[in-house]
Amino acid sequence: MLADTYGRIATDLRVSLTDRCNLRCAYCMPAEGLDWLPKPELLTDDEVVRLIRIGVERLGIREIRFTGGEPLLRRGLAGIVARTAGLRPRPEMSITTNGIGLARTARALREAGLDRINVSLDTLRPEAFQELARRDRLPEVLDGMAAAAAAGLVPVKVNSVLMRGVNDGEARDLLRFCLAHGYELRFIEQMPLDAQHGWRRANMITAEEILAALSEEFVLKPDEPDERGSAPAETFLVDGGPARVGVIGSVTRPFCAACDRVRLTADGQIRNCLFAREESDLRGPMRAGASDGELAGLWRRAVAAKLPGHGINDPTFLQPDRPMSAIGG
Ligand code: 5AD
Ligand code: SF4
Repeated sequence: MLADTYGRIATDLRVSLTDRCNLRCAYCMPAEGLDWLPKPELLTDDEVVRLIRIGVERLGIREIRFTGGEPLLRRGLAGIVARTAGLRPRPEMSITTNGIGLARTARALREAGLDRINVSLDTLRPEAFQELARRDRLPEVLDGMAAAAAAGLVPVKVNSVLMRGVNDGEARDLLRFCLAHGYELRFIEQMPLDAQHGWRRANMITAEEILAALSEEFVLKPDEPDERGSAPAETFLVDGGPARVGVIGSVTRPFCAACDRVRLTADGQIRNCLFAREESDLRGPMRAGASDGELAGLWRRAVAAKLPGHGINDPTFLQPDRPMSAIGG
């Protein structure tokens, strides 16, 4: 098992498959993009699948989430999914995507064994999408979500980040849209993860503000706390249900004590947290010939050193050196 010294067990592995992206969301990247990782530093498909297998067979990983950058840009994605689906015990598999290209790939991913999908959608207005993501591609995202639902990648979950002065007036519109389409919406507080270090606490739309805005139109009934488990979202029944909405207060309502995640970056580093300032290299030892048992040992040791929390609210907080797109969402 992957246990840390605070009694937490990591069972949920987030695998970043690329640091590249075809959008430039303001809370993630500067307009000009980033220097992408050189190809030789990226894990190959075989290397990714080997580490996932070690996680599943030896370390108690039960859930795999593929992330990026934009994971649909990884050519071998469907193959990686299919090979992961062949592992025993078969892990739950989902993907976090911006939705671009999903209209073309949803079916193949479903057939490869993908269970669910999370699509990032921050606005329903093309002008705001252009401002936020710096590309005019909203219709492709909406088509992708519809294709995912049609392919059976359900429930389609939607992640929204609200930015003050850009899309903060859209909380209710987004919920109305998701209710109408049967998508499960979760708002995420903006976290200090952008490459350009532009995050300001005063500009963050808090969980409290989001709930206040939604409550102007909808009746929200909180789910019992024990239904939350390790899932970071606080969930609410909307207008008597069955639909729900979630709010992830990563900054103002941290859930680190219940965290069950561990991350593998596209270049083969284990990270215990989005905000970790340290990583443990598995790629080097793997390429130097380490056995499955040795890699499992390195991984166990890495997780054992997990810190109790992200520390965003500490005066000494330092943003991680690597941005979200290089860490995986
Ligand atoms: N704060 C909060 N959420 C973020 N995401 C990307 N960057 C940030 C940030 N700084 C979201 C994306 C996507 C998921 C991977 O994380 O919108 O839904
Ligand atoms: Fe791309 Fe996701 Fe970053 Fe937006 S948040 S630029 S979609 S990696």
